[in-house]
Amino acid sequence: MQETLAAGIIRLTGWNGRVPLYDPMCGSGTLLSEALMHYCRIPAGVFRKRFGFEQMPDFDPALWEQVKAEADSRIRSVPEGLIAGSDRDKTAVHAARTNIMGIHHGNLVDIARSDFRDLPGLADQVIVTNPPYGIRMGRDQDMDLLFREFGNFLKHKCKGSTAYIFFGDPVYIKHIGLKPTWKKPLKAGGLDGRLAKYELF
Ligand SMILES: C[S@@+](CC[C@H](N)C(=O)[O-])C[C@H]1O[C@@H](n2cnc3c(N)ncnc32)[C@H](O)[C@@H]1O
Repeated sequence: MQETLAAGIIRLTGWNGRVPLYDPMCGSGTLLSEALMHYCRIPAGVFRKRFGFEQMPDFDPALWEQVKAEADSRIRSVPEGLIAGSDRDKTAVHAARTNIMGIHHGNLVDIARSDFRDLPGLADQVIVTNPPYGIRMGRDQDMDLLFREFGNFLKHKCKGSTAYIFFGDPVYIKHIGLKPTWKKPLKAGGLDGRLAKYELF
């Protein structure tokens, strides 16, 4: 998933850190990374050494240093476990841990290896995730069934939570079996995606 799309999704959830945020199909952890950057107020491009605007004739290096110092001083830590996720795939979990450890306070984000069906439940939190789409996930993975089971998981094990699901292919929305509060088109990288919000009572 593109970082810009993940950052946009986190913004659209309106998550403000008052309740935990969890991604149960976290892949390489892009949504978790963007949630961490959002919560900790880490500026986008924090690791970039050079920017094109530094070549502009009226570029003021002293002012730029001041802007960077102010942004850096706003960076804050995150309570351990406030941001967490899991994935059933070992390689994805390894990639997610590596990616998140490269960000400030990434050591405070928990990433586990688990099938969402084996999670004890995700009550009273913000769930944000991007299930598989459009690619073969293996012979054992029936996509319609996966979405149906994920819908059941949300309905029965996530009471009091709000889920934001990014569907890379809107054809799967109907298989979740839940009525969304809203759906927003998010087209990115050639995808005709949808972000759907579900309130789980
Ligand atoms: C589209 S990818 C997520 C990409 C992620 N947003 C990222 O930026 O890397 C979907 C993920 O769902 C995971 N997945 C598929 N079925 C799963 C299941 N039953 N339980 C947990 N994870 C599952 C896959 O291993 C894959 O990493």
